Amino acid sequence: MPTLDERHAAAHATLDAAGQSHVLAHYDSLTDDQKDTLLSEVQGIDWPEVTRLIETHVKQTPTFSIPEGLEPAPWYAHTPRDSDKPRYAQARTHGETLIAEGKVAAFTVAGGQGTRLGWDGPKGTFPATPIRGLTLFACFAEYLQKAEEKYGAPVPWYVMTSPINDAATRATFEENNYFGLDRANIMIFPQAMMPAIDMATYKVLLSSPHQLALSPNGHGGSLKALWTSGAIADMKKRGVEQISYTQVDNPIVRMLDPLFIGLHTLDDAQMSSKMLPKAFPKEKLGNFCMVKGKMTVIEYSNLPDELAEQRTDDGELRFRAGSIALHAIRTDFVETLNTGSQGFSLPFNRAEKKVPFYDPATGNTVSPTTPNAVKLETFVFDALPMTSASVLYETDRVDEFAPVKNADVDGKIEVDSPASSKQLQTERGARWLESRGVTVPRTAEGTVNATIEIKQTTAIYPEDLAEIELPNAVAPESELLL
Ligand code: UD1
Repeated sequence: MPTLDERHAAAHATLDAAGQSHVLAHYDSLTDDQKDTLLSEVQGIDWPEVTRLIETHVKQTPTFSIPEGLEPAPWYAHTPRDSDKPRYAQARTHGETLIAEGKVAAFTVAGGQGTRLGWDGPKGTFPATPIRGLTLFACFAEYLQKAEEKYGAPVPWYVMTSPINDAATRATFEENNYFGLDRANIMIFPQAMMPAIDMATYKVLLSSPHQLALSPNGHGGSLKALWTSGAIADMKKRGVEQISYTQVDNPIVRMLDPLFIGLHTLDDAQMSSKMLPKAFPKEKLGNFCMVKGKMTVIEYSNLPDELAEQRTDDGELRFRAGSIALHAIRTDFVETLNTGSQGFSLPFNRAEKKVPFYDPATGNTVSPTTPNAVKLETFVFDALPMTSASVLYETDRVDEFAPVKNADVDGKIEVDSPASSKQLQTERGARWLESRGVTVPRTAEGTVNATIEIKQTTAIYPEDLAEIELPNAVAPESELLL
């Protein structure tokens, strides 16, 4: 175990070489614990990479140009044509078998800071359902409980946190007795962090005299963290072959989707994705495209209006497939990425942010009112072009996409907010009930005139409702919890 002095000397040399020696300017005035914290943070950073990124992404804004030969990506439609029905049936059965054999793990990326929602705590602890106010983590646990009952096998669940919310996330799982699941099947691990860099001085910022201003390195960091945390090793020990990747912000997400997993595996894909047809040309969803035979996501901000607005002969958007950040990933693909002789890296994305910082010159903490720093993140979908094959499958918006991202402001319902998510959850419940012959009260505009919550332990598919007794009708303005 190296001493503090030895670690200090090593950190000093690294930071000097990176032109960031200001980080240790007040080192001598710190307590031993503070020294340990600062040195650990410094050791956790890839400084040559930071130095390189300052040149390419901070001193300049990388320009984006549309790759040559860009085409829309093909996909498996939500409703198959008659000729495709046998393929879908085969895929669903195959996916169910894989889940029943314990070969599919659930993976939730929950390392983000959730700043837009303004929730003080891990986003997974946000109360998201319309009647019980069940938290996101509890929704996922109910889903897995139902899946375990349905498919007859325990589902290993991996949760990626970040050093910012790792302890709080672990405490939440502990306090809630792992939401009734077997804790032996749950693994929580943090992703890596990146320092924020001052846009004017190109120096990394400190958040206090003994801490760097760090933030999670983007959900692309999951592909490294799955490996470095030992999660992939754990999966291999359990015989897990496929990872079902979902985001923490969506209470109705299908944590395991046999049809999607089946299509992905039958086509021998390494990493696949679900898509939604965009509601309008510039909807803020990444666009699934093909470039030289490889699946690629072009961020909505990078797709020129002219392409975004293009229509096919039947009047549909040509670039229609929007990313909702749901993936199926082979465990051995993650292993190959991390063990290849060349190593692997995903492209970094630059975001200009207001980052509060400790100013060593004055000893004050400054809260800027305009963006002062660059944060650097990688995105998981940028691994798609590295795959040998990739499947895209269309899902249904009401069935699977009710994310909680933005706070509702002054009673006004924002897009992707707690209130809009609850409305969508009610709408989904209403459709499922209607599909079973239940009368649901609706306004003249078609909005459900009641609040409906269907527990995931009751149903994760509409057909699961066949197992319970249903009312003939839902009373107007009532609350119905099933
Ligand atoms: C993301 C997608 C967007 C998609 C939308 C669907 C990107 C760049 N955009 O947007 O195309 O339409 O989801 O819901 O991905 N996370 C981490 N670690 C990080 C950063 C994020 O685990 O370092 C997790 C978050 O906890 C969350 C998810 O990744 O579960 C999404 O993060 P966020 O940055 O909020 O992406 P969105 O803007 O929602």
